[in-house]
Amino acid sequence: MKIALGADHGGFGLKEIIKSHLEKKGIEVLDKGTYSTDSVDYPVYSKAVAQAVLNNEADYGILICGTGIGISIAANRFKGIRAALCSNSTMAKLTRQHNNANILALGARMTGDVLALDIVDEFLNTSFEGGRHTHRIEAIEL
Ligand code: RB5
Repeated sequence: MKIALGADHGGFGLKEIIKSHLEKKGIEVLDKGTYSTDSVDYPVYSKAVAQAVLNNEADYGILICGTGIGISIAANRFKGIRAALCSNSTMAKLTRQHNNANILALGARMTGDVLALDIVDEFLNTSFEGGRHTHRIEAIEL
């Protein structure tokens, strides 16, 4: 499995924690930045991670900003991207099962590091259920 990571300055610290967590599990990481706490604009990272997922360079993306809101709004402008902002692991499980989310968004100023790692694990360990959810997802793109 390969995961594309992206964050603005507000999410940089949590991105580094998630990167090390994934690498310890043997999961390959494609780090699209940012690479410091210098102020940057979150849409840049939404675009980089959305394109990595859409081009099949990564199986899933994880995007982090202060709240997770701006970075998920920007990612969802890309056709085929379903970015889900999750604040607990039940949301992460359900968004994979029901929405087939392909990007997990997190708010580093809203969600503690330990909880964020639980959310990441639940997201990556859960499969799409298909069935009644399939036509609803197809309808998003119409
Ligand atoms: C940056 O200060 C902050 O606006 C950003 O990280 C995010 O919370 C936007 O939605």
